[in-house]
Amino acid sequence: MYLIIASSLKSTSRSLILAEAAERSLKSLGREVELIKLRDYPLPFCDGETAYGDPRVSLLAEKIVAAEGILIASPIYNYSINSPLKNLIELTGRNWQEKVVGFLCAAGGASSYMAIMGIASSLMLDFRCLILPKFVYATGNHFEEDRITDEGVEQRITELARSLVRISTAMREYP
Ligand SMILES: Cc1cc2nc3c(=O)[nH]c(=O)nc-3n(C[C@H](O)[C@H](O)[C@H](O)COP(=O)(O)O)c2cc1C
Repeated sequence: MYLIIASSLKSTSRSLILAEAAERSLKSLGREVELIKLRDYPLPFCDGETAYGDPRVSLLAEKIVAAEGILIASPIYNYSINSPLKNLIELTGRNWQEKVVGFLCAAGGASSYMAIMGIASSLMLDFRCLILPKFVYATGNHFEEDRITDEGVEQRITELARSLVRISTAMREYP
């Protein structure tokens, strides 16, 4: 099972649109996939203590551990991922161990394209995640209402899904 985590809490979210397109891509490759919307899982703030015991944290940690590969779809907020996603990673930390992780980002403008590097480095160095280097980064210009209108973005989503499957399969074959 592949996991897609959509972290925007907005009722109409462009990163969720990217996540849904990635879900279709993975399904068209014959893969099982679960799309999780963080807005459906209100989580406590990570306090480094009791928050780990929240049942939703355990549930999400189980899904992360069991995932064959993970795509993260996040809005870019203040030149980073959004805080619900950061909080999830704080809460579920070691469960990310050695996962293959790809990113789909929705941003307001083109200049924040390196904004995932902080969290990508943390996943890489803390938990030995394998970060897919070619990721998806889309701005408002690439959408019309709830549709992706940019062929390049569509293409990159397909590529991201393919490389997630390719690398995750190779990792399983040579553990
Ligand atoms: C609090 C806040 C901070 C933001 N910071 C940035 C930013 O640093 N760089 C950027 O390009 N866009 C920024 N944006 C714009 C969002 O990334 C953009 O609206 C995106 O579509 C949000 O994703 P969503 O539609 O999935 O929620 C910010 C938006 C908000 C609400």
